[in-house]
Amino acid sequence: MARAATLFACSACGHQEARWHGRCPGCGAWNTLVEERTPVRGGVAQGSRARAATPRLLRAVASEETARLPTGVGELDRLLGGGIVPGSLVLIGGAPGIGKSTLTSMALGELAATGRRTLYVSAEESAAQVRLRAERLAPGALEVPIVAETALDVILATLEVAQPEVCVIDSIQTLHSPELSGAPGTVGQVREATAALMRLAKARGIAILLVGHLTKEGSLAGPRVLEHLVDCVLQFEGERERTYRTLRALKNRFGSTDELAVFEMGPGGLREVADASARFVAEATATPGSVVLAAMEGVRPLLVEVQALVSPSELVPPRRVVNGLDRNRLALVLAVLARHAGVGLGSADVFVNVVGGVRVEEPGADLAVALAVAGAARSRRDSTSAVRPVVCCGEIGLAGELRAVAGLERRAAEAARFGLGPLIAPGITAGPATVVQAVSAALGRSPTRAAA
Ligand code: TYD
Ligand code: MG
Repeated sequence: MARAATLFACSACGHQEARWHGRCPGCGAWNTLVEERTPVRGGVAQGSRARAATPRLLRAVASEETARLPTGVGELDRLLGGGIVPGSLVLIGGAPGIGKSTLTSMALGELAATGRRTLYVSAEESAAQVRLRAERLAPGALEVPIVAETALDVILATLEVAQPEVCVIDSIQTLHSPELSGAPGTVGQVREATAALMRLAKARGIAILLVGHLTKEGSLAGPRVLEHLVDCVLQFEGERERTYRTLRALKNRFGSTDELAVFEMGPGGLREVADASARFVAEATATPGSVVLAAMEGVRPLLVEVQALVSPSELVPPRRVVNGLDRNRLALVLAVLARHAGVGLGSADVFVNVVGGVRVEEPGADLAVALAVAGAARSRRDSTSAVRPVVCCGEIGLAGELRAVAGLERRAAEAARFGLGPLIAPGITAGPATVVQAVSAALGRSPTRAAA
C-alpha cells in the first residue's frame, strides 16, 4: 500500500527537507518551512509492471489546431496569443487593487454573453461583493454563475459537475486543502491546489484563469512554485492610484512573451488603450526636463514621456527618486553625466518619472533619462531656454558612449507618426555617438561647462 509521505518545503526558496527546521538550510530564512505532501515514490525502479510506451516520430504526430476561446477583451486576447486555449491554466498576478478581479470578471462576462459556459469561483470576496463589481461592468458580467468557496475539494467537485469551458479562481492563495497542514497561501497549499486544478483542467478541457497575489518581494504566489505548473503567466503592473495599468506575459506556452497590453481603469471597469503612444504623447508636457522615450514593448513601439526634476538639496546624500525605471540605471546615468558631460548633480535632488505609471525595463531608456535630467538641470539655470519636444532612445555605456538598441526603424516611424523627431538615437544616420553629442543635439549648445 502506498503511504502518503510528507515533506517540508521552504516558502521562500522552495528548498525541501524531510524534517522541519526552524531555519531553512537552503536560503537561511527563519520559519519558512511548511509541510506538504510528496508524490508516492518507489515502485518504478523495482520490478515495475507499467506498460512501455511506443515512441513515434514527431512528423507522424497529428498536429492539432488549438481552437481558441476569444474573451472579447481584445488586449487580453492578443497577449494570450489569440484567446484562451481550452484546458489551459493562466495565472494572472498583480498587487492588490490593480484590477485582477475586474479583468477576470470582464472576460467571463464577455464569454458568457457569447454563450460559453463559465464559472467564477470567489475565494476572497462574498458573492454579493462580486456582484457589486459586476454591476459596474458590461451587462454580460451579471450572467456569470458564481460560487463563493475556499475548500479545494468542494471547488473540484463543483467543476466536475458544472463543466464550465472557462473558470476563474480568485484567488489561488485563499484556497484551502484540508489534507495539508499549513495556512492558505503557503507554498504547500498553493502548489497542491494548483496541481489538482491543473489535472482537472487537462482531463476535462476546462480553461482556468488563476488569480494570484504578489508577495512583498514581488514574486508571484511564493517563488517560482506556480510558474512552471501553469501554461501562461500574465502580470499586472502599474499603481493603484494611477489610471493606466499594463499587463505583460512573463510566460506563454501558446504565444509570444514580449507583448504588452495597456489598460485604463475607469468607472466601467478596465478599458483597453489600443493606441497607447497616442495617449502618452498627447499628455506629454514638452517642458524642460521632459523627453519622449521611443521604447519597444515586444514588437510594438511605444512612446512614453520621461520627466525629470532637479532641485537644490538640503540632504546629504541628496535624494534620488525614480518611478517606472530601474534605480540603478539612474545612478549610472547620473554618474556618466557628471563624469563625461559636465552635468554634476552631487548637491541636487533628482526625481525621474515615467508618466502614466508604465514601467520601462529596456536599456534604451538610459538616454531618455540622461536627456531629461540634463534638460532639467539646465532649466534650473536658464529657464528661458526654448523647448522643443525631444524624442530619443539608446543605451549608455560607462565611458559615456552610446549603444544602439534594437528596432530603431520602428521607433523612428512611431515618433514620425506623431510629428515628433528627428529621433535622437545612436545607430541612425547622423545620430550621436556619445552622451555629450546627444545632449547638444537635444538641448542645443552644450548646456554646461565644456565636457571633459
Ligand atoms: P479589483 O479588480 O478588485 O482589484 P484586484 O482584484 O486586483 O485586487 O479592483 C481594483 C480597483 O479598481 C478597485 O479599487 C476599484 C476600482 N474599480 C474602478 O475604478 N472601476 C470599476 O469599474 C471597477 C470594477 C473597479
Ligand atoms: Mg480581487
